[in-house]
Amino acid sequence: MSKLLVKGGKKPLQGSVRISGAKNAAVAIIPAAVLTLAPVRLENLPEISDIRILVEILQSIGVRADQPEPGVLILDSSGLDNFKPPFYLVSKLRASYYLLGALAGRCGRAEVPAPGGCDLGPRPIDQHLKGLTALGAQVEVGHGLVKVTANGLYGNTVYLDVVSVGATINLMLTAVRARGKTVIKNAAKEPEIVDVANFLNALGARISGAGTDVIKITGVEELGGGVHSVIPDRIEAGTYMFAAAATAGDVLLLDVIPKHLDPVIAKLREMGIDVEVCGDRVRVSGGRTPRAVDLKTFPYPGFPTDLQSLAMTMLTSAEGNSVITENVFENRFRHVDELVKMGARIKVEGRTALVEGSCRLGGAPVSATDLRAGAAFIVAGLMADGETLISKIDHVHRGYENICGKFRSLGAVITEVE
Ligand code: EPZ
Repeated sequence: MSKLLVKGGKKPLQGSVRISGAKNAAVAIIPAAVLTLAPVRLENLPEISDIRILVEILQSIGVRADQPEPGVLILDSSGLDNFKPPFYLVSKLRASYYLLGALAGRCGRAEVPAPGGCDLGPRPIDQHLKGLTALGAQVEVGHGLVKVTANGLYGNTVYLDVVSVGATINLMLTAVRARGKTVIKNAAKEPEIVDVANFLNALGARISGAGTDVIKITGVEELGGGVHSVIPDRIEAGTYMFAAAATAGDVLLLDVIPKHLDPVIAKLREMGIDVEVCGDRVRVSGGRTPRAVDLKTFPYPGFPTDLQSLAMTMLTSAEGNSVITENVFENRFRHVDELVKMGARIKVEGRTALVEGSCRLGGAPVSATDLRAGAAFIVAGLMADGETLISKIDHVHRGYENICGKFRSLGAVITEVE
């Protein structure tokens, strides 16, 4: 089991880093490719293990996948001959639920292992199943499997009880070839949803309203081929922005969409950090002790839950105490215990964490509880005195392309050890 060894000392990160394609767009767009019989070409895909597993899953059900160069994938689903992806692969992937909507939309059948919970608390998919049922599918859950059967899918209006990225996307996948019109109300508005809609529309789907809370889909008989370049990963970008600010560094991020970073830029500026935006570049220069702030996570365009652990890590060194409220997931403070091991003074009560400032972290052995917490511990290790050894770093490689190489290029001393 490899681990990451991070050398502390708060050496300011300097330099520039290119942001990769968005994991949370890619893990939806790749399964979505089974909705067409024509080949599709995907570009700007991040080189991460979640994507490698997804490609293996598609190949296991008869999809042809070629990777002519890094970051590019050509998928041909004309030979798809199975709707039961293998358990040993699917269970490795949280976002396997997209296979339900994609396969239901493609062949009216899907048998997918129920996605495992993870360290963010229970990960229900009741809204996904509500959507599938509303469009005419029969859904059966049991023995760790979700079975979907549909003798034809029909458009309908679905009002999501919860603002859910996954359920919104899954419903889009199911609806693009359903007969008639589907309206998704109380839809999530994340940029990754817009990217999936743009991809499907490039293949001939008729989706409007993605990025708003009402998405309309008019079903089409079939989809064609197309080319799509995945948007930059706003969460990876935010990770390096917090890393730069937390080490009082000066880092230039390349290939970003600043608009997608609005809540992150606003919060960093509130902390007193200089953030300059120029075209597809964002520059973060720390240079001063951050001010304490109150922070609440919300669905987009609120502050992203995926950067909550990064913000918390940085706020341990702020002037004053901060209050963080996690409104998206039930239990996304698993990283607190590990930060406390490093000397942080954080008190959790329900969905709220009180983060004491002016804390000098010390290196310690910690364990990544989810991929974003893993990244936060790298930042904590850079801020701390001494060395930090981070275990369970498979989480990190699931969602961050070349994270050690990128941090090293900014001056961090970080090595992968057995
Ligand atoms: C997506 O997860 C992302 N993952 C998560 O990123 C991200 O944290 C999350 O959206 C919120 O932005 C992918 O896109 C692969 P949700 P998802 O459905 O779709 C509840 C990362 O680090 N809910 O928007 O699973 C749910 O429990 C990952 O990259 C239901 O109650 O999240 C949560 O409290 C972590 N019923 C809330 O909604 C449902 O059917 C939001 O979850 C679905 C969700």
